[in-house]
Amino acid sequence: MYQASSVAEIRQYAQHWKDNAQSIAFIPTMGNLHQGHLSLIEKGQSLCDRTICSIFVNPMQFGPNEDFNHYPRTLERDIEQLETIGCDLVYMPTASELYPNGLDQISQILVTDLTESYEAAHRPGHFTGVATIVLKLFNIVKPNISVFGKKDYQQYQVIRKMVRDLDLEVEIIGQETTREANGLATSSRNQYLTETDTSQAALIYKTLKTTAALILQGERRFNQLEEQAKVQLNQAGFDTDYFSICNAETLKPASSKDRKLVILVTAGLGQTRLLDNIEIDLW
Ligand code: PAF
Repeated sequence: MYQASSVAEIRQYAQHWKDNAQSIAFIPTMGNLHQGHLSLIEKGQSLCDRTICSIFVNPMQFGPNEDFNHYPRTLERDIEQLETIGCDLVYMPTASELYPNGLDQISQILVTDLTESYEAAHRPGHFTGVATIVLKLFNIVKPNISVFGKKDYQQYQVIRKMVRDLDLEVEIIGQETTREANGLATSSRNQYLTETDTSQAALIYKTLKTTAALILQGERRFNQLEEQAKVQLNQAGFDTDYFSICNAETLKPASSKDRKLVILVTAGLGQTRLLDNIEIDLW
């Protein structure tokens, strides 16, 4: 596997592959890779000739109360995993090259409409940080496709909207969420759960599936379904931030006319906030 850390190097590799008519899949990450990330790489490999993964803990998407310095950094193990899976190139940019004049000076990408509720309400400025770094990385790598996990559903839709709004020449592919045997969505945050919490956390996906099944059977009293689910989760010891039935693309509250829905949930268990979602296709 090739390794690159400067913009010039990465552009050389990417250009060489393009000159040889090879397509490029790009998977941006912040490292601390787990099975979920590896499934994104595999998806890229199945669709393109070459796969590039970036590892960069992006300071711009962390709020002042979020611990950027303590974000888990496991570079050696990440590189080993990428080698094993057959990724072609790992790009590990430096903050000084991407933000040469610091975070205050950088132009910002605000993706409108999708960045007011849910995770955005909890983490002001977060999606501007995400969109800005992803656009920069797209401009550096110039991939044909880029794969994002649907586990972070709002992020996935924010990136799709940015690509549409700004006419970017990259196709965004959404990859299904990887799950543990009990249904819990794979996440770096799972490492902070105790064994008891891990089995308890299975209730999140179970509640999503039960609610989705009711909608598929014709139930349209969405507010009532949301309330029931929240009560169920809170009674089981979760601190539910939101359990929201939405239009899958706009993420606005679902109407009975919508055909593609998603239920977004974030629930705290102990010190850990767990995110999950389920898509529902009513066509
Ligand atoms: O999902 C992530 O790990 C990050 O938000 C991303 C897309 C790599 C941007 O820093």
